[in-house]
Amino acid sequence: MSRTFDYRGKTVFVAGGTSGINFGIAEAFAGAGARLAVASRRQDKVDAAVGRLSGHGEAVLGYALDVRDYAAVEAALADAARRLSGIDVLVSGAAGNFPAPALAMSANAFKSVIDIDLLGTFHVLRAGFAHLNKPGASVINLSAPQAYIPMPLQMHVCAAKAGVDMITRVAAMEWGRAGVRVNSIVPGPIDDTEGMKRLAPTPQARKLTQDSVPLGRFGDKRDIAGACLWLAGPEAAYVTGAVIPIDGGWSLAGVSVAGAGMFDQFAGAFR
Ligand code: HXC
Ligand code: NAP
Repeated sequence: MSRTFDYRGKTVFVAGGTSGINFGIAEAFAGAGARLAVASRRQDKVDAAVGRLSGHGEAVLGYALDVRDYAAVEAALADAARRLSGIDVLVSGAAGNFPAPALAMSANAFKSVIDIDLLGTFHVLRAGFAHLNKPGASVINLSAPQAYIPMPLQMHVCAAKAGVDMITRVAAMEWGRAGVRVNSIVPGPIDDTEGMKRLAPTPQARKLTQDSVPLGRFGDKRDIAGACLWLAGPEAAYVTGAVIPIDGGWSLAGVSVAGAGMFDQFAGAFR
C-alpha cells in the first residue's frame, strides 16, 4: 500500500498495461489500493500481469485485445466498468516502435505505428468516456519526446505521438465541463524497457543516452508511475490538457542531444 496516495475504491484501466512503463503504472495504482484492469495483445502477458497485480489484494481483470480493434476495446472497457464499478483512471499506453529511416519503411510499417499509438488512443478514449465516473475521472495518455523533438528514424513515432498530444488537448477542452481531466505524460529514456532495448541497444548507445540527460541517469519506471499517481488524484485537480515531461530534463536540449546519443549506432542510416 502506497503511504502517499490512496486509490482504495477506485478503478484504473491501463491499455497496454502488461509490461514496461505501463505495467509499472498499473502496479503503482494497485499498490495504492485500486482495482485494476489491464489489456494488451498477448494472452500470456495478460495472464502474467494479472497474476502479479492480484498480489496486492484488490480485483484485477485482464483482456487480450488489439487497440486497433475498436469493438474489442469497447467490449473490454464496458465489461471492466460493469464488474469494477465504472472507471476512475483511464491510461492509454499501448505503443509500437522500431528505428527505421522513412525510406526503409513501407506504407504499412508507418501505418502500423500510427494505428497502434494514435488510432489506438482515440479508440481507448472514445470508447472509455461513457464508462468514466464523472465528475472526477482522469485520463492519462502516454506520449514520448518524439512528439515535439523531431528524431531521425522515428518519423512514424514522431507523427503518432504528436497526434496523441493533440488528442489530449482537444479532449481536455471537450470533456472539462463533464469533470474529466485529460493529460499526457512524456517519459524520457526509461531503463529496462522494450523502448530502450530497441532505441539504445548497445552499451555505447546507452552511455551516450545517459550522458545526454541533465540529471545524469536513465529514468526508472517508478518515476513515471509516481507522476501518474499524482496526476490522477485530487492534488492535480486543476491540471488538464497538460503535456508533462518526466525525463530528467532530457528533452530540454532538443534533437541535437536527445537524438544524437540514442541513434548513434544507426548514424549511417541518415548521415
Ligand atoms: C522497417 C519494419 C520494422 C523495421 C516492422 N516493420 N519492423 N519496417 N523496419 N525494423 C514493418 C513490417 O515489415 C510490416 O510492414 C509493418 O512494419 C508491420 O509489422 P508487423 O510485424 O506485421 O506488425 P505488428 O505485428 O502489428 O507489430 C507492430 C510493431 C511491433 C510496431 C511492428 O514492433 C510491435 O508489436 N511492437 C510493440 C512493442 C514495442 O514496440 N514497444 C516499444 C514501445 S517504445 P510490411 O510492409 O512488411 O507489411 C515507444 C517510444 C519509446 O513507443 C520512446 C523512447 C524515448
Ligand atoms: P512495452 O513494454 O512494449 O509496452 C507497450 C505495451 O503495449 C505492451 O504491454 C504491449 O503488449 C502493448 N501493445 C503493443 N501494441 C499493442 C496493440 N496493438 N494493442 C494492445 N496492446 C498493445 O514498452 P515501453 O517501452 O514500456 O513503453 C510504454 C509506453 O511508454 C509507450 O506508450 C511508449 O511509447 C512510452 N514511452 C516509452 C519510453 C521508454 O523509454 N521506454 C519513452 C517514452 C515514451 P502486447 O505485446 O501484449 O500487445
